[in-house]
Amino acid sequence: MQIKLKNISKNYLEGGQQHIILDNINVMIDKGEVIALVGPSGSGKTTLLNLLSGIDEPDSGEVLIYDNNASLSNDSLSISAMNDEQKTLFRRHSIGFIFQFFNLIPTLTVLENIQFPLELCDKLDKTAAGKISNLLQRLSIENKQHQYPECLSGGEQQRVAIARAIIHQPQILLADEPTGNLDDETGQQVMNVLLELTKEYQMTMLIVTHSQDVASRADRILSLKNGHLVEKAS
Ligand SMILES: Nc1ncnc2c1ncn2[C@@H]1O[C@H](COP(=O)(O)OP(=O)(O)OP(=O)(O)O)[C@@H](O)[C@H]1O
Ligand SMILES: [Mg+2]
Repeated sequence: MQIKLKNISKNYLEGGQQHIILDNINVMIDKGEVIALVGPSGSGKTTLLNLLSGIDEPDSGEVLIYDNNASLSNDSLSISAMNDEQKTLFRRHSIGFIFQFFNLIPTLTVLENIQFPLELCDKLDKTAAGKISNLLQRLSIENKQHQYPECLSGGEQQRVAIARAIIHQPQILLADEPTGNLDDETGQQVMNVLLELTKEYQMTMLIVTHSQDVASRADRILSLKNGHLVEKAS
């Protein structure tokens, strides 16, 4: 899927004052591209991912999704124009979201957490166990599948959150600092898996990171500062 952000602005009211977070952002992201999103803490990176997934709405502008990247004259879907049910279905089928703070379900085991998106998409079929086991192995957490999230380290929970976000093979993967809790070596291993899967599943990936190493492996680096998004040399 190709994504276009068109004149996107977002403000928050803070102490009675409008605080501009995103100021007329315009960008086009091609199908299959890996984009690193960098910028200081509080610059609006998570806010931008929330707008892309329809979790949050811009004050003005549109997030447009194109199913075919051949030409922009093709029909596009505007996330803002979707009703709540359409947004839920779009998120469920087309988006994988690795949340900055994981958002695992505490009452479900690792395996159940990862199965959950498959159940929602009606994809918990005979092939599911093999897919989950392959992913757990590639992320080196296969021995944790029957544990509950509270029994895992931060880095292990992060890898469960990654598995849960990609198990249903979404077309767009939004990854909010997916290696933020990992040591350098595990972080590199996880980044390898994410890049391999992006190719295998032909996903478009936006990856928020504070790591120069992670950013340098993306196709493009976009930097968010003072409400503006600028392209950086990768
Ligand atoms: N729901 C909200 N209500 C009010 N202000 C908010 C809300 N969500 C975010 N903000 C403000 O918007 C700004 C951007 O927040 P955001 O979480 O997008 O930053 P970030 O770039 O992801 O930072 P970090 O690198 O620390 O995760 C912050 O100043 C934050 O306080
Ligand atoms: Mg953030």
